[in-house]
Amino acid sequence: METILDPFAAPVVRWGVIGAGGIANTVIDCIRKATKQDLVAVAARSKERAQTFAEKFAIPKAYGSYPELVSDPAVDVVYIATVHNTHFPAAKLALEAGKSVLMEKAFTLNQHEARQLADLAKAKGLFLMEAMWTRFLPHMVELRNRVNAGELGELRYAHVDFGYRDEYDPSTRFYDPAVGGGALLDRGIYSVSWAVNLLGIPDAISARATLAPSGVDAQVSAILDYTANEAQALVESAINVTTPQDAWISGTKGSVRLPAPFWAPTRLEIQLAGSDPEVWSHPTLARGYEYEIAEVARCLSDGRTESSVMPIDETVAIMGVLDEIRAQCGVKFPGE
Ligand SMILES: NC(=O)c1ccc[n+]([C@@H]2O[C@H](COP(=O)([O-])OP(=O)(O)OC[C@H]3O[C@@H](n4cnc5c(N)ncnc54)[C@H](OP(=O)(O)O)[C@@H]3O)[C@@H](O)[C@H]2O)c1
Repeated sequence: METILDPFAAPVVRWGVIGAGGIANTVIDCIRKATKQDLVAVAARSKERAQTFAEKFAIPKAYGSYPELVSDPAVDVVYIATVHNTHFPAAKLALEAGKSVLMEKAFTLNQHEARQLADLAKAKGLFLMEAMWTRFLPHMVELRNRVNAGELGELRYAHVDFGYRDEYDPSTRFYDPAVGGGALLDRGIYSVSWAVNLLGIPDAISARATLAPSGVDAQVSAILDYTANEAQALVESAINVTTPQDAWISGTKGSVRLPAPFWAPTRLEIQLAGSDPEVWSHPTLARGYEYEIAEVARCLSDGRTESSVMPIDETVAIMGVLDEIRAQCGVKFPGE
């Protein structure tokens, strides 16, 4: 049985941030609003950009390169918030410098990179986690508790979609294969991770995609098959169209639906056989990222090298699922 914990109550650890872009702004704002964590430094490829970010969030140190940040002895853990193709080198740099790492999704471009990082972190006894923040939200704690208690019976069927339209522009990170673009790594990772969180790693995968002119997947649908359990998950993602973005899971005794957006919902809608519909809700303190940040702080403070909610071997296995989906859809990144 998992417990919903107050992010403000997490022990304080010292954070460094790599990358001063879109998601870093959102996550650091959450850290400031809903945790007591110590933000000690930020690094960007340009010193000026790092300085502007540092001033905005009252972070004492700004570095104009990533190596400077990872060699700062005042940093315990590095939050990596850069584009997909830079995840592997940035995390390798941090781990080799002896820093723990929280890395944005999708964890790496492929499973080969993910496995190398997992091995490096294990060899060095360092904490490493994919920032799959939705898993740490209160409603996911409640959903896992209900599933694990058997309330839904035997899980059989799930459906999860995350489509959000970005105008086609091959120079953006969404459509540029050179930076790991495409629907699957940016949005499908949420759909796949959600299904895997509840059903596990699938035994078989069938996938189809529509490709953008730049060669990345513009929309992709996959059936994850769990042959031993007679279960299936239909996972979808898109960057060329906006979809309802809800999710549901059904078992032999009932269903739970997460209304849009399933990745940051306000409630669970529960329908058990023979019972009245139930709605379960729980507010978040800020935008929700505070829960994953607090989990990292608790793990580090307890001397744990991974979180049981997003274990590193599961991240590596999920990257294998994404590899297989891309392979079936004919999507490759440069150099693969
Ligand atoms: N958790 C979530 O809800 C969420 C939401 C959106 C995105 N993300 C993830 O967060 C990561 C960053 O996304 P974002 O939207 O924040 O991206 P972004 O603002 O476009 O870029 C983030 C940072 O990546 C570096 N960067 C950008 N373009 C680059 C290039 N061509 N080559 C090398 N580095 C480059 C820059 O770092 P410098 O500042 O050092 O120059 C930039 O600040 C991705 O992994 C994405 O999937 C997560």
